[in-house]
Amino acid sequence: MLSSRPGPQMATQTAIILAAGLGKRMKSALPKVLHPVAGRPLLHYPVRAALDAGCDDVVVVVGHGRDLVQQYLQNAFDSRVRTVVQETQRGTGDAARVGLAALGKDDATVVVFYGDVPLIEAADLRLVLEHRKASHGSLAIATCKVADPTGYGRIIRDERRVVVAIREQRDLENDDQRAIQEINPGIYVAQVAWLREMLASLEPKNAQGELYMTDVVERAAKRGEHVTAIDARESVLFGVNDRVQLFEAEKRMHRRIRAKHQRAGVTVRGGALIDDSVEIEPDAHVDTNAVLRGETRVGARAHVGVGAVLVDVVVGADAVIKAYSVLEKSRVGERAKVGPFSHLREGSELAEEVHVGNFVETKKTKMAKGAKANHLSYLGDGVIGERANIGAGTIFCNYDGVNKHTTTIEKDAFIGSDSQLVAPVTVGEGAYVATGSTVTKDVPKDALAIGRAKQENKEGYASKLKARMKTRSGK
Ligand code: UD1
Ligand code: CA
Repeated sequence: MLSSRPGPQMATQTAIILAAGLGKRMKSALPKVLHPVAGRPLLHYPVRAALDAGCDDVVVVVGHGRDLVQQYLQNAFDSRVRTVVQETQRGTGDAARVGLAALGKDDATVVVFYGDVPLIEAADLRLVLEHRKASHGSLAIATCKVADPTGYGRIIRDERRVVVAIREQRDLENDDQRAIQEINPGIYVAQVAWLREMLASLEPKNAQGELYMTDVVERAAKRGEHVTAIDARESVLFGVNDRVQLFEAEKRMHRRIRAKHQRAGVTVRGGALIDDSVEIEPDAHVDTNAVLRGETRVGARAHVGVGAVLVDVVVGADAVIKAYSVLEKSRVGERAKVGPFSHLREGSELAEEVHVGNFVETKKTKMAKGAKANHLSYLGDGVIGERANIGAGTIFCNYDGVNKHTTTIEKDAFIGSDSQLVAPVTVGEGAYVATGSTVTKDVPKDALAIGRAKQENKEGYASKLKARMKTRSGK
């Protein structure tokens, strides 16, 4: 099944990314290439590398979990990427064949590589693409020298050092071959029609009984074609086959992302984790162990404190998020202050100069410029006006067991400590709610609301009370 859009007719540089495998070693219901690395499915990075390298037709070969993979690619890359289905996973050579069938232009150049290598970048693909052009070879591949080649295909050269084959780990014939430290990272560049012809005659003569993309090298060499190899960075070969490698790939990715922000003028301290999708403006400061995920944007000179967790949060310029605050799907205005230990849940919108302090939880609550809630509160479904002050221990009782209701606090209102506002309720502009009130009725503009039992003092009664209690207990 081919996605309906035909390949661009003018395509001159194309890519095929192989991603149909099950990823058995992940032991997961989720297709391997959708496992997240620094906030994006690992397939995202190879696809991006192909697009960034200037490939104008990018075909991803899918199979296992195809619906999920296609859905992701559609959402993330829209019409810039096509998918084609490899019904049965007969090996990387068969997958490449399926991919090539979807490419129109015979004289275009194609780069074939694997979808389980998240650390690959456009520069790595360009290196091999340019090497083929410069060397006028029929086939150009990347190679890598590694200390431990176990598990990788080995590059076999003849006595003149010409590449003549790639042998998979399981098909190695002797210890000499096993000792070869030059391995195959899996980037192949050729002309579309040429590669199609080479792949047509592949045979599954190997330990796994599969059609191997790597066998193209031996076929070409035997036919006297010019096969050239170029040294690639060690990181391009970092394939993810299990969750130990997934962890390592993410660690390297986070290091790369961190360095990118640091070079762009952001201070990032040890242990901070920033996902690929996050944007940060210069002179912002991301402190130790802060975690920034999703569509998070941090404005210039803002400070994200130690251990803060931000998921899909927009932080305005000069705002301060103090230590151990947790924010989700929220906005924090310029110069606002949040935390330490605040919890902003989805739909919290703090305007400029708002202060939200320790142990304050907000949910779907808007706070206008300069409003403050400095201590110990639950503010759910609230609309809070400019400069309003919410005292310590205030609760917006938004839920009646069935429905959620809104609490509206108009500008310059003052809510005394330990008050409960039973929604739906409105406290008018400049009104004053006395400490410890339970507010069940609207409070008009400029009014004072006192909603608590009157205090009574009984003179000299304390010692009498204590004496009575002692006789009762017999002490
Ligand atoms: C492959 C190479 C090996 C190289 C290594 C580098 C082959 C035969 N071997 O081995 O030389 O050193 O990568 O990482 O190519 N796939 C399909 N359809 C299939 C089989 C695989 O689309 O029928 C896809 C997988 O989803 C995966 C990629 O091809 O993304 C590589 O397959 P994998 O099984 O991981 O190959 P390796 O054993 O790692
Ligand atoms: Ca692999």
